[in-house]
Amino acid sequence: MRKKVIAGNWKMNKLPNEAMEFISELAPLVKDTENEVVICVPYTDLFYALMHAQDTKIKIGAQNMNAEEKGAYTGEISGEMLKAIGVEYVIIGHSERRAYYNETDESVNKKLKKALLLELKPIVCVGESLEQRENGTAKEVVTAQTRLALEEVSNEEVIKTIIAYEPIWAIGTGKTATKEDANETIKWIREEIENIYGKDIADSVVIQYGGSVKSSNAKELFEMSDIDGGLVGGASLDAQEFAKIVNYK
Ligand code: 13P
Repeated sequence: MRKKVIAGNWKMNKLPNEAMEFISELAPLVKDTENEVVICVPYTDLFYALMHAQDTKIKIGAQNMNAEEKGAYTGEISGEMLKAIGVEYVIIGHSERRAYYNETDESVNKKLKKALLLELKPIVCVGESLEQRENGTAKEVVTAQTRLALEEVSNEEVIKTIIAYEPIWAIGTGKTATKEDANETIKWIREEIENIYGKDIADSVVIQYGGSVKSSNAKELFEMSDIDGGLVGGASLDAQEFAKIVNYK
C-alpha cells in the first residue's frame, strides 16, 4: 500500500513569523492523520519552520537546491546546506523553475541524484503544457520527463523518489485536471517507471497530482487508484484549508 503524501508548496510566500503561525495552527488539525504532511517553504523560513514543527506531524521541505556541494555560485543553496539544518524534503524541477530559471531535464536529473545521495526526499515535478495536452503529446512529454529525470537512478533510490504530476495549465489557474485524466496520466508515468524498473518497484513509487488542488476536489482526486496525494500551491497557504486537504477522507 502506497502512503498518501500531501505536500504544500508555498512558492515565494510567507515570512518567518507567518510560517510559525501557520505551523501552530496546522499542527493540531493534522495530528491524527495517517497521511504524510509536508510543507515546502522559502529558504528564509526553513530554519524557523523546522524549529516550530518539531514534535508535530509536519515535515519540512525546500523548493529547490543546487546540485553542487559548494563553490562560486552566488545566491545558490546546496543540498548539503539543506541537510545540515535538518530539511527532509526538496522539490526538484517545478514547472515554474523550468519556465523561469532554465531548469532542464538534465539539471533535474543531476539535482535528483544529489538529493538521493544526501538522503533528502525528492519531489520531482513533471507535466505538460496546454498546447501539448491539446495536440496529443502529453503522454510523450511526461514519460520523457520521467525517464530523463530518473537516468542513473538505482532501484533502491527510485523507491525513495516522489513524482508530482503537475499539468502546467492547471497550476494557479483554478482549472483542475479531471480525476480521470489525472489518473490516466499518472498511470502513463507509472508504466514508464515499470518499463525501467519493473512492476513491483513501479507499484511502490508515490506519484502525486498537483494543479489547483483544494479541499473541494481533494477527495475525488486522492481516491483515484494511482493518485497518491497532492502537491498543493495556493490552497496550502491557509492552514484551515490545507488541513481539510490533508484530512480529505
Ligand atoms: P496551485 O495549487 O496554486 O495550482 O499550484 C500547484 C503547484 O504548482 C504546486 O507545486
